[in-house]
Amino acid sequence: MELVEAIKERRSINFFEPGREVSNGKLKELIELANLSPSSFNLQPWRVVIVNTLRRKAALRKCAFDQPKVEEASAVLIMIADPDGVELNSGRVLDSWEELGYMKPDMRETYVGMMKNLYGEVDSLKRKFFAVKNTSLFAMNIMFAAKGIGLETHPMDGFDEEAIKKEFNIPDDKIIPMLIAVGILKSDITLLPRAFRRDVGEFISFEAY
Ligand SMILES: Cc1cc2nc3c(=O)[nH]c(=O)nc-3n(C[C@H](O)[C@H](O)[C@H](O)COP(=O)(O)O)c2cc1C
Repeated sequence: MELVEAIKERRSINFFEPGREVSNGKLKELIELANLSPSSFNLQPWRVVIVNTLRRKAALRKCAFDQPKVEEASAVLIMIADPDGVELNSGRVLDSWEELGYMKPDMRETYVGMMKNLYGEVDSLKRKFFAVKNTSLFAMNIMFAAKGIGLETHPMDGFDEEAIKKEFNIPDDKIIPMLIAVGILKSDITLLPRAFRRDVGEFISFEAY
């Protein structure tokens, strides 16, 4: 599917075909495509918990205000933003830059300093923004990649973050920007037309705010 077509056709699907499985291989393919997302300094500060068994989807539904699509979708992805992404991944990012010739070895410390300066201490608000911003871009790519491989999605922030962390053993310092339901559109459903979008003239300006 062409990208423009995928953008035009992506919808948040409320009605998934219950009982339709999407293989672990296909889910991995989806995540691998989205993993090509851009990220700040290429730091990729995300994790994903894939929930695709009936028992665990039922548990997740309880944490997500009883939204039926959590159980009806083939899988639900718990998108996790990791403020620790700088410490975890910067070494490998810089190794790769060095190996590939993006960066001379003597620039390494300069880059480490820039990251620390831009993204602050691990428990700071700056760092949380960094993690959520990048994980949200990754999440959007999951939704477009899904269209490209014949899957539908639905992003959700209607959930109790603390309850999900407890149920799925997610450490306290992580942030869950959204869940993404993934699956196949229910066969007898016709979607309502896409709802209102603001006219872009309302929010764009040239040169200054
Ligand atoms: C971050 C985010 C959280 C959302 N949370 C929910 C949710 O919890 N439940 C729900 O039914 N829809 C949720 N939505 C879906 C929006 O309502 C939907 O994207 C919007 O109405 C536009 O519809 P469309 O995606 O089909 O174009 C969410 C969307 C986003 C981007």
